[in-house]
Amino acid sequence: MKYAQILFSPTGGTLRTAEAVTGVWPDEVETVDLTDPASIPRSFRREDLVLIAVPSFGGRVPSLAAQRLAGIEGNQAACVLLCVYGNRAYEDTLAELRDLAEQQNFRVLAAIAAIAEHSILRQYAAGRPDAQDGERLGEFSQAVLEKFRSGNETAPALPGNRPYKQPGRTSLVPKAGKGCTACGLCARQCPAQAIRLENLQTAENALCISCMRCVARCPQGARRVNRAMTAVAAQALKKACSVRKECELFI
Ligand SMILES: Cc1cc2nc3c(=O)[nH]c(=O)nc-3n(C[C@H](O)[C@H](O)[C@H](O)COP(=O)(O)O)c2cc1C
Repeated sequence: MKYAQILFSPTGGTLRTAEAVTGVWPDEVETVDLTDPASIPRSFRREDLVLIAVPSFGGRVPSLAAQRLAGIEGNQAACVLLCVYGNRAYEDTLAELRDLAEQQNFRVLAAIAAIAEHSILRQYAAGRPDAQDGERLGEFSQAVLEKFRSGNETAPALPGNRPYKQPGRTSLVPKAGKGCTACGLCARQCPAQAIRLENLQTAENALCISCMRCVARCPQGARRVNRAMTAVAAQALKKACSVRKECELFI
């Protein structure tokens, strides 16, 4: 048998949260990185335990993550779903992730909604996941391991609506500022392949998913989104994002 984590984590919050869960698993954990198309296709076996982790974008699974999950065959492997959000809301993300996992023949044993720093409005959920989150996630992960070993296959009830809410489309396309040295790292690491090496200044509107990978990874801190637009969004979401939310655990 093997342990694995399938992740879509453009800026690292989903990865850090996933590691709080898989860090207590007793063996090496293989990683399938859905931001890298070369990581797919993959297949698992019934005896495996897999964490499937995505961020919530507009209360939904990022469409690129959903597309890439379709290249993975679960073959009845057990899975834990993890949705990570920026302290606003995750709405239909877990419901959609469950449907996607089941379409790929995974058996859902448990699910988690957890909070990480908001990757666009970084003042919200700053420092999350923190030590308190880590402790709760680690304890829950032990309970998941026990369920997995016991052979109990009951599926948890999860929140969310079908049909899912309409996905929002953000027009926040990061651009390169004066500090750009044209190293091309942003183009090489863009999950959506939206940045062309011949034109690093911007990203293709039709491909960019506003995931903020290029902003987070630029070694010069030279990529930015429009400040006026983020200020408006920050104000609009202030109430929803400001009160600390806690991880929700479903087993
Ligand atoms: C395009 C986009 C849409 C987002 N939508 C939401 C949302 O609807 N609710 C929320 O609480 N956080 C939202 N967030 C914040 C992310 O879910 C959160 O920061 C997550 O940790 C990002 O994962 P990553 O660090 O692995 O990239 C959004 C972030 C982006 C980039």
